[in-house]
Amino acid sequence: MEVIHLKDIHKSYTDADEVRVFEGLNMSVLEGEIVGITGPSGSGKTTLMNIVGLVDRPDRGQVYVLGRDTMSMSEKELSAFRNENIGFVFQYHYLIPELTALENICIPILIAKKNASREDEKKCLQVLEYVGLSEKVSSLPSELSGGERQRVAVARAIINEPAIILADEPTGSLDRENKMKIMELFTSIRNRYRTTILIATHDMSLLKYMDRVYRIENRRLVEVNPSEG
Ligand SMILES: Nc1ncnc2c1ncn2[C@@H]1O[C@H](COP(=O)(O)OP(=O)(O)OP(=O)(O)O)[C@@H](O)[C@H]1O
Ligand SMILES: [Mg+2]
Repeated sequence: MEVIHLKDIHKSYTDADEVRVFEGLNMSVLEGEIVGITGPSGSGKTTLMNIVGLVDRPDRGQVYVLGRDTMSMSEKELSAFRNENIGFVFQYHYLIPELTALENICIPILIAKKNASREDEKKCLQVLEYVGLSEKVSSLPSELSGGERQRVAVARAIINEPAIILADEPTGSLDRENKMKIMELFTSIRNRYRTTILIATHDMSLLKYMDRVYRIENRRLVEVNPSEG
């Protein structure tokens, strides 16, 4: 099943000078694929993640996510659809500093239904255990290492079992060992839930974890060999 389909995407920023980012970009990602998005700084990786994540709209083109034509959806529909189907992981984790690891993980549940049940809390604990942090339930983000914080962020992204995870430079601030842990965690999540995972990165050492790799070139995507980047 095709989970993400972008067709003839055009996107410019016109704040000051016009920056043309995409011109006729196409992309197709199947269920359960781990797909890398590479390209130099400023080539549009984050812009692409924002379009797929339904955070930003292209100027032109079609965005199909899980078979839905999202360009015809209202902002309200988009935000409900996003919360239900898409988990986000960023380079800087964006955990809430005042909340414990466990509480941070529960946030998407609270957004969806306002009150977390005992069942939900149990699920959060299980996910925290799954990412290897059962001993850090009550730790604040400031009491965790960079790698641990990022694993909390991954746990938060998967708590609602989204069909899609979008990760923008998820290992950008991590050392080699923690990078590997995060990538192995993504692989394990995909194997367990058949999650479709899109990872934007300019770190070539991550590419071996990808099923397929796209590079942004001339404002479009070209598919490259994962072993070459
Ligand atoms: N809100 C914005 N307003 C104006 N220009 C923007 C905006 N966001 C991004 N751009 C420009 O669009 C282009 C693509 O930016 P984007 O952040 O998508 O690149 P990137 O590949 O993610 O880069 P990096 O590897 O540095 O994160 C850049 O030239 C950037 O300056
Ligand atoms: Mg970026």
